[in-house]
Amino acid sequence: RRVGAPPQSTFPKHTHAVPMLSLDNAISDDELREWEERLVRIAGEDVRHAGYSAELKIDGAAVSLTYEDGILVTGATRGNGTQGEDVTPNLRTVRDVPLRLRGKKPPRRVEVRGEIYYPFDLFERMNEELVRRGEKVFANPRNAASGSLRLLDSSVTATRPLRFFGYGIVATDGAPLTCTLQSELLDLLEEWGVPVAPHRRRCPSLNEVFAWAHRLENEIRSTLNFAIDGGVVKVDAIAVQTDLGVVGGREPRWAIARKFAPDIVETRLLEIRVNVGRTGALNPYAVLQPVEIGGTTVTYATLHNEDLIVRKDLRIGDLVQVKRAGEVIPQVIGPVPTPGTRREREWRMPNRCPVCRTPVVRHEGEAMHFCPNVACPGRQLESIRHFASKGAMDIQGLGESRVEQLVQAGLVHDVADLYLLEAEQLTTLEGFADRSAEQLVAAIDASRSQPLSRLLFALGIRHVGAAAAELLARRFRTMASLRAAGEEEIGAVHGIGEVIAQSVAEFFRDQVARALIDKLAVRKLTMDEPDAAA
Ligand code: IVH
Repeated sequence: RRVGAPPQSTFPKHTHAVPMLSLDNAISDDELREWEERLVRIAGEDVRHAGYSAELKIDGAAVSLTYEDGILVTGATRGNGTQGEDVTPNLRTVRDVPLRLRGKKPPRRVEVRGEIYYPFDLFERMNEELVRRGEKVFANPRNAASGSLRLLDSSVTATRPLRFFGYGIVATDGAPLTCTLQSELLDLLEEWGVPVAPHRRRCPSLNEVFAWAHRLENEIRSTLNFAIDGGVVKVDAIAVQTDLGVVGGREPRWAIARKFAPDIVETRLLEIRVNVGRTGALNPYAVLQPVEIGGTTVTYATLHNEDLIVRKDLRIGDLVQVKRAGEVIPQVIGPVPTPGTRREREWRMPNRCPVCRTPVVRHEGEAMHFCPNVACPGRQLESIRHFASKGAMDIQGLGESRVEQLVQAGLVHDVADLYLLEAEQLTTLEGFADRSAEQLVAAIDASRSQPLSRLLFALGIRHVGAAAAELLARRFRTMASLRAAGEEEIGAVHGIGEVIAQSVAEFFRDQVARALIDKLAVRKLTMDEPDAAA
């Protein structure tokens, strides 16, 4: 039965029987050669006779499917590699995922590992549909795949044309598989009825791998209806894989991702806009003539600061080179010289904050310009958005557009105001039904019990990232004792440097910050860290 399970409120955690690993990268033939040299040093000349399995690296969402006596019993996301989410009802709706393995005698218990992906053409169609309905579009097929996989209502997932390719088998009942090669293992998957990505190849030596990788980048890639972010090269002989083992419990030595060189394209720089960050930092960014790079459309690119724009001599209207490599935010490399054309004037940071019109400042020796107005709506918006975000207080349903709505309606000026919101106030805003209003209030309420570490990070204290927040919370346990600590005591915490200590101490001296903390305490936020043992 593929559909029909009732909607869930959240996903159960799933601990992988064997961790789901990640891969080291090589971006050139030379790096592949160095990799092989390393393997030979570790496992000897056997490596050179083991051969390689060259496969597409599907750019989707990794999942693990557990089969018992050939029947699909559990499907989980990769998560952090050790623990993911049990999304079985959603995975059941994916047609490529067999509910029952074909073949006479499947192992008693086996995990099939692979990648869920969203085909390009259907991705475009879905985004067009989302635009028509006025909903948020997905940035790329990978986000669409993992987003669709994590929908709480599997009947919605069933409407998304997700696909699946298997690339690995993990026997979890101790019984060995009869295959001796990774390439045979892929054949076995196909026999079981699991789709395997096309263009795979068994290569006797690295020379064949090089030829394959070049064909992949220059010919095959553009013909595919799904995103890949390179190839994966695996030592083919499973016995040699076992000899080579895993580095640091995370990356197998016997496999490596062969990434493509970063994509560079040319497009027009239409505009330079400035965004106000939560610390007041003014971040210039480029608005580009939309252009496709490696399968995704790029419209914005970061420009960092004024100096960088001047150094690169970027002017509005220029033809520019833009680069996007993997996950990173697109970057503008520089203008393409076009002699004989007239260009705009040099770009300068505006004198006033683009949101609140306060004169901007630039501190001695710093590259960034700042809006010094703590009450700047732009800063407020960013600090509330950060406060609610996933790594911080994780308030479900309080995304960027919702925050903007609340600030614009004057319902929220700082993060403490969130805790006074009532459902009736929200229902007066556009797009809120009774149910969604109640859900948001409940989500805000639930965030009261987030531990001190999250709260500290959520407050957006300069230089205090999630890791530093965790160290501080573990050492001081309560907001009160951290607040009472001096700069020296804070700096004495292992892992906390001078810059962070200074910034934290400064934060607790600031009148506005102190008042905010007091308000949050009155509004019953937890403000302490549970025992590490708990
Ligand atoms: S092998 C054993 N093979 O890439 C090491 N992974 O960076 C790891 N991926 O999240 C898996 N295509 O989901 C392997 N043919 C392929 C792959 C592949 C895509 C993903 C995988 C993982 C990531 C590792």
